[in-house]
Amino acid sequence: MSFDQQHGTVSPDQEERESQLAERVAASFGATPDPRLKELMQALIRHLHAFLREVRLTEEEWQRAIEFLTAVGHSTDDRRQEFILLSDVLGASMQTITINNQAYQNATEATVFGPFFIEGSPEIELGGDIAAGASGEPCWVEGTVADTDGKPVPRALIEVWEADQDGFYDVQYDDGRVAARGHLYSDAGGRYRFWAITPTPYPIPYDGPVGRLLAAAGRSPMRAAHLHFMVKAEGFRTLVTHIFVRGDELLGRDSVFGVRDSLVMDFTPQPSGTPVPNGRDLAGRAWSRVRFDIVLAPASAP
Ligand SMILES: [Fe+2]
Repeated sequence: MSFDQQHGTVSPDQEERESQLAERVAASFGATPDPRLKELMQALIRHLHAFLREVRLTEEEWQRAIEFLTAVGHSTDDRRQEFILLSDVLGASMQTITINNQAYQNATEATVFGPFFIEGSPEIELGGDIAAGASGEPCWVEGTVADTDGKPVPRALIEVWEADQDGFYDVQYDDGRVAARGHLYSDAGGRYRFWAITPTPYPIPYDGPVGRLLAAAGRSPMRAAHLHFMVKAEGFRTLVTHIFVRGDELLGRDSVFGVRDSLVMDFTPQPSGTPVPNGRDLAGRAWSRVRFDIVLAPASAP
């Protein structure tokens, strides 16, 4: 069945009425003093009206859309950002990142920020442990921060955060504890190292309106296992990224479209009894290790 058969053909008069309305609304932003705001609003109106007309939105659907967005707002507070989740599952976050972080030579690729970063993470020493009691298998993470010519970047700020092995970030705990997040600085040779926990897959929070949308679409809320990084250094483009676990079966169907092949790393299992770096006593527990060499693009990169 063609679109016109399904929806009834729109008469030329009706077409004209709809298109004139869209043009009138776009023109109402024509005197916006800020040229960028004018561009954004006029393009938004053009695409919004094209969408409404393409799907022939019913009044009942409009009402449901308003209720949905209202629920997204009501679910959002200081510790939960349902709008970022919505942007993430629509691929809008990943598209914005892709537009704004074009591949630059051999620089490490960016991916989604996600809703779980918070300012003010604890500082940890090189070789320290970010877990702070979060459940999970210990994981030794090490690497270098360098520019695209391989020159080390000393004193780069490295923020890291991740979910525990039950799939929860500390902000989802009831007791306000800070765990599985921290920041550290690369040393004079651009090197860094710390203990974390081996990433495990987790669902994005699905008890709210975004979760209901995913359920209605038959989509899984699961994210491929990952460890978040944000790396900042003077003169370089800030890098927001994750590393993923090679072999994770969710790599091909991450719910927020965040996986890039170049970010999939080998988290090598270290059986119980393997000598442990940094003299840490793991009381015979198994652990894993991963190497992640970070390459920063210059601030002038597109
Ligand atoms: Fe995450």
